[in-house]
Amino acid sequence: MAYREIFTVGDPVLRKNCRKVEKFDERLGTLLDDMAQTMNQADGVGLAAPQVGILRRVVVIDAGEGLVELVNPEILDKEGSQEDMEGCLSVPGQFGIVERAQRVKVRAQDRKGEPFEMEASDLFARAVQHELDHLDGVLFIDRAARMLTPEELDKYQQDEQ
Ligand code: CO
Repeated sequence: MAYREIFTVGDPVLRKNCRKVEKFDERLGTLLDDMAQTMNQADGVGLAAPQVGILRRVVVIDAGEGLVELVNPEILDKEGSQEDMEGCLSVPGQFGIVERAQRVKVRAQDRKGEPFEMEASDLFARAVQHELDHLDGVLFIDRAARMLTPEELDKYQQDEQ
């Protein structure tokens, strides 16, 4: 496993549409392993392949319920709404208030190509929607109702400590 460089906002790779995975080979497994390590090391809740410069529909999420790998994910259903603060490893030091669905139903494939469906709610659902946006070149800053001010950011960081 290896840590991969995380591309940040301004890099065109974050604005591209990702292609579907067609080959479920060793290379995909390595990508997924590296993405999980990179996400953990960067202390993130999720990571999408374009953030490490790979334009494929691959996402890893760990919202506190264990590692989830989603290949070619699609949202089948959305329900309710939640409004909360969101950040992104590709947009360092910035946070915004983003409205998302409260619950989502997702269809995806695992690293072997086996299809499965799952449901997510709350933070997990927020992470799913955020990461899937990355696959279409969309960042949370595009969706934020507003960004946190430097003062709010300071306060938030103090509260965290
Ligand atoms: Co992100």
